[in-house]
Amino acid sequence: MACKKNKAETLSLAAPGISLKSLHYEQILDTKPNVSWFEVHPENLKSGMTLSYVERIRQDYPLSFHSVGLSLGSAVFNEAYLDFLKEMIVRLSPVLFSGHVAWNYAEGAYIDDLLPLPYNDESLCVLVDNIQKTQDVLQRHILIENPSSYVGFENNSYTECDFVINAAKKSGCGILLDLNNIYVSHKNGGENPKEYIKKMIKSGLVREIHLGGHDIFKLPSEEVVFLDTHSTRVASSVWDLFDYCLSLSRVSIPVLIEWDQNLPSLDVLLAEAEIGKHIWHVMQHLKQLQHRFKKILGGQKDEACSAQVVNVDRLFCTRKTKQSDCYQAFT
Ligand SMILES: [Fe+2]
Repeated sequence: MACKKNKAETLSLAAPGISLKSLHYEQILDTKPNVSWFEVHPENLKSGMTLSYVERIRQDYPLSFHSVGLSLGSAVFNEAYLDFLKEMIVRLSPVLFSGHVAWNYAEGAYIDDLLPLPYNDESLCVLVDNIQKTQDVLQRHILIENPSSYVGFENNSYTECDFVINAAKKSGCGILLDLNNIYVSHKNGGENPKEYIKKMIKSGLVREIHLGGHDIFKLPSEEVVFLDTHSTRVASSVWDLFDYCLSLSRVSIPVLIEWDQNLPSLDVLLAEAEIGKHIWHVMQHLKQLQHRFKKILGGQKDEACSAQVVNVDRLFCTRKTKQSDCYQAFT
């Protein structure tokens, strides 16, 4: 497939984008808030009024498209749906386009939820084929998002992380790494989140990061289930995974704050983006200091220098670090 290059426009790496929701359209148009970009679910653009609002917002902000109806894991793929997506891409020129490693379409009907795939060669084949069909019609590379998991299939032959990486490598697409999904899956019995993130970043395929909120439900059996609801602020434990991810990544990656249910005021979403921005800046600063400091030390092996390196590495691993702490480490 010969994919056209995306429009030269890029998404800011230094400040997260946020979900674009109808509740906030008027306020965004009236106040032009300081947001670097917005994510749109193209499924919502079937409403003419929504499309008209989004086209006006598009004049001032870059967009990404995140499809919840693509159903890349369906054995019978809804190829007709790609025509609608292509039309919306032409109209709004999103910088990125992503879909889920999941399915919610069968026999002409959509299910209002993202359902899991078994992680085996048969479903990998289906997924890769559907990604390639999508990229061929849309004439662009897409991203696939790691799911939030609640069950595991007995006939899995891959871990979730390996399954997603394999699908991306075989189809030539990129990966949208959702850190909240990794955390939710881990709490429901999934993989070690740091190992998962490390492997994903090492693959060199991650092109976007999602951060969102989750809820915790207690079942009648007293068992606890973590649900990927996108209805709350990003949890502290997920911000910690973001720190970890940034500490690993040499290439900066656009970040999005997701919020889809129990929508708060726009100010709350903007405040979440500010937290992400602060963490990003602190981590960039620490990376520069760490690099410079190690370069200055060169081959020196004395105890004081070693202690400073340890100190920098410790600072590097915590988002609670303030920039003033970084300077103190060098004075
Ligand atoms: Fe996500």
